[in-house]
Amino acid sequence: MCGIIGYTGPRVAAPILVEGLRRLEYRGYDSAGISVEHNRTLSMYKRAGKIADLRSHVPPNVPGTVGIGHTRWATHGGVTDANAHPHMDASGAIAIVHNGIVENYLQLKSRLEKEGCTFRSETDSEVIAHLVASFYKGDLEAAVKETVLLIKGTYGIVAMHAAEPGRLVGARNGSPLVLGIGEGEMFLASDVTAIIAHTRQVVYLEDGEVVSFTADTYTTTNLRNQVIDKQVDHVNWELEEIEKAGYTHFMAKEIHDQPEAIRRALSGRIDHEYNTGHLGGLNLSNRELLDINRIKILAAGTSYHAGMVAGYVLETLARIPATAELASELRYRNPIVERNSLYFAVSQSGETADTLYAMREIQRKGGRVLGICNVVGSTIPRESDGGVYIHSGPEIAVASTKAFTSQLTAFYLFALIMGRMRDLSHDAGRQFVRALEAVPAQIEQILANKAPLQEMARKYSRHENFLFLGRGINYPVALEAALKLKEVSYIHAEGYSAAEIKHGPIALINEETPSFFIVTDDGLRDKVINNMKEVKARSGPVIALAVEGDKEVASIADDVYFVPPAMELMYPFLMAVPTQLFAYYCALERGCNVDQPRNLAKSVTVE
Ligand code: AGP
Repeated sequence: MCGIIGYTGPRVAAPILVEGLRRLEYRGYDSAGISVEHNRTLSMYKRAGKIADLRSHVPPNVPGTVGIGHTRWATHGGVTDANAHPHMDASGAIAIVHNGIVENYLQLKSRLEKEGCTFRSETDSEVIAHLVASFYKGDLEAAVKETVLLIKGTYGIVAMHAAEPGRLVGARNGSPLVLGIGEGEMFLASDVTAIIAHTRQVVYLEDGEVVSFTADTYTTTNLRNQVIDKQVDHVNWELEEIEKAGYTHFMAKEIHDQPEAIRRALSGRIDHEYNTGHLGGLNLSNRELLDINRIKILAAGTSYHAGMVAGYVLETLARIPATAELASELRYRNPIVERNSLYFAVSQSGETADTLYAMREIQRKGGRVLGICNVVGSTIPRESDGGVYIHSGPEIAVASTKAFTSQLTAFYLFALIMGRMRDLSHDAGRQFVRALEAVPAQIEQILANKAPLQEMARKYSRHENFLFLGRGINYPVALEAALKLKEVSYIHAEGYSAAEIKHGPIALINEETPSFFIVTDDGLRDKVINNMKEVKARSGPVIALAVEGDKEVASIADDVYFVPPAMELMYPFLMAVPTQLFAYYCALERGCNVDQPRNLAKSVTVE
């Protein structure tokens, strides 16, 4: 989604703003711009296209030490220079940048036009600049507060006024804002990656909060002008973690991060004496956990697929009903919230609007929601009733990879806790722990044997349609594999239960449509092998992910990749990695923008 950066301090602002926007590129965008104040006059430079286009548009040595910047992911209005942010009022004395959606912008725009305003863009955001101007009586903070009280929808706003040099005002409702506290300088951004090159001391704004700041001071208040004392957090991600660490793409780096990321997610969270898990932050006593008789997981995209796997594991270990639901559907279904249900909101970014709003709806109905998130201090973990950080480190590539397996890790630990409180024996718990702790090394084995997957991609990436098929706990892995291929290579790929192929999809089988089977040595193996034969009988190319030594699968498939043998429940970890690599290599073969696929954003903070 859109990115925001604001700066005020002793240094020339323009290069800091442009570099901050560059660090936000991973969020996905289609235009960018900055505005800088100098001698009580605002200048503005904005362009459709990439940061490189903006950089070439900004004159060298633009004076001014306070400014704002924005990367836009179009929601209202096309990708044009005029629709890029910042937006100014008619006088050019006010500039604002905005993340989010002003749902009532047409009414506001009509009212402003009646008052004589002339709009230069098609965006909803521009109404904010004109409203701030209409309320401005010498106090920018007050004018911003009056403005946001009229907005229905979501916003992360930063505003500046030529008459208040050195001052910026930020306001947040639904779109994240974080204040960076430097040495004699201040920053305000949509996420910490834009500012940790300058400071690690940050203050996260909550919904309904406003921050007014200059180079040396800041005040946080609510919309009723009550001062709010905010905690200052320290960001412990190293900047180089955010760089590619020698890999060609962030996606490749993050796929290879997975063994260490899983080790981090496990670190300090296994009790080897009782062969159970230990998760701080659940905010639930053992007695309360024992009372839980249903679990519902709400998420979107890859996180939803992780939730589906979690459902299988929870039902297997804890023997309580556990299902994943699309957050976007659950929210509007007038969900039935039962007293002893426990909900999980799963989100790498912690900012996905669909998941956030579904969580709020469940909480409004009295449900307890725990967050399974990666980004510390993001909205979902801050608003949830507790939860687990997956500690997978910054995930920059739009296509989620390490977050998926780290989310699984958190859920597997929770399932172990719940299982060992119920029927899972001490010995069964030990076997599960041993199998889970073996996963990172098994993934390292897979990562050391990438060539067959690269070869498969060379052979099959010309195809325009794929089926991904798995059963049982591998069914959501097939869905995730299809999503990965779709989003990075733009190949149409559908994930299906292998059993379902005969109920329709088999009509698609021909020489041009490869079927990618995930087949493990579980109780469904023979049935999946039958499905493979059904495809072969219709001249469909068959690719298989199988367990080392499975000669029968190798004799049927046109191409097979073997993973190390493991406990049945562990195969989602081991099967996910080859499918991530296959998608990555296909994207390379097709010359796609692997880290920033077209039309996609890393965090979808609008519905
Ligand atoms: C996954 O590769 C996609 N980028 C997308 O489906 C993503 O998983 C989804 O938007 C949810 O994001 P979240 O985990 O940050 O909530």
